[in-house]
Amino acid sequence: MANALKSPYAAKIVSIGTAVPPGLLTNNDLEKMVDTSDQWITERTGIKQRHMAEKGVATSDLAAEAAIQAIERAGLKPTDIELIIVATITPDMILPATACLVQDKIGATGAWGFDISIACSGFLYALQVATQFVTTGAHKNVLVIGLDVMSSIIDYTDRTTCIIFGDGGGAVVVQRTEDGAPVGMIDYLYEVDGSGGPALCLPGGGSRNPTSKDTLEKRMHFVHQDGQVVFKFATRKMSDLCLKLLERNGLTGKDVDLFVPHQANLRIISYSAERVGIEMDKVVVNIDEFGNTTAGTLPLALQSARSDGRLKEGSLVLLASVGAGFSAGAALMRWSY
Ligand code: UT7
Repeated sequence: MANALKSPYAAKIVSIGTAVPPGLLTNNDLEKMVDTSDQWITERTGIKQRHMAEKGVATSDLAAEAAIQAIERAGLKPTDIELIIVATITPDMILPATACLVQDKIGATGAWGFDISIACSGFLYALQVATQFVTTGAHKNVLVIGLDVMSSIIDYTDRTTCIIFGDGGGAVVVQRTEDGAPVGMIDYLYEVDGSGGPALCLPGGGSRNPTSKDTLEKRMHFVHQDGQVVFKFATRKMSDLCLKLLERNGLTGKDVDLFVPHQANLRIISYSAERVGIEMDKVVVNIDEFGNTTAGTLPLALQSARSDGRLKEGSLVLLASVGAGFSAGAALMRWSY
């Protein structure tokens, strides 16, 4: 589904906060755990290390840390936040929603909230939901969090998945602007293709296969992935959506100041950038440092670009995601600070 925004208000990101646990799992560590090598992981994925939460550290802990940072950087108080949207596939527990846990932890006593569970596209979809609430005039300050503790659902005996994922993510404050400045979300193009569900799933623990001795023995409480199927879908879909979105806005890859793609595999990122016509010096890559943090990759990538000075006021930013579902999206944004 797609929709160009028409509203007297714009929705702009006014701050970013991030949180990653201090613990690291390097490729050399993984060599000692499964049959793999630093060379294979580096060549096939671009990943060198990932951050790992200590036992007992949950998504809401890191989400609250990122949220407080984002709220402070926006010059706001937690009580200024009216809505909290948490994109995650690793909630602290099935219920209550992680947004409720974060609301309580940060003291956002005036906020309502909910979670979005759409894996790697979670942050992008949540950003659009926030934009809708802001541009309708319903809310002024919305907190959007994309964060996963992937280590809680990864099988560290499965070399096809354990080398990819890491823990962490971030938060942004999406704020209403009424001065007519041409900033914030410009347009988006999001799609799901549920026929791809079996290629990337966590089959146990839901209503289809409630947790039992059997589901545990079959390791159904861990992520299962057909890497090749996801890879083929991701390379084609990410670039297709970006090209379509740019075209209908009268733009090409050359107009993009910064491409911020989901960090799943460096080869997917490079292929997509090349097909869309964006030079690699305009592409944010931090997968080497963080691995794939699922809903966390985009806020971490935005912060990396802020830190190295590549994300400036007025930059035309193209964001893109592909992941489980299948879910995919591309969004265009005029950066605002
Ligand atoms: O964000 C969520 C969305 N997920 C993605 O976007 C992931 C998309 N997929 C991928 O990134 C890649 O498919 C992987 C990184 C998961 C795998 O890379 P690949 O180049 O597609 O490898 P492959 O599955 O084709 O396997 C090639 C070979 C196989 O051996 P044979 O059959 O050729 O002898 C695998 O058994 O590499 C082997 N292999 C490994 N070898 C060393 C698979 N995993 C590993 C490993 N270390 N960790």
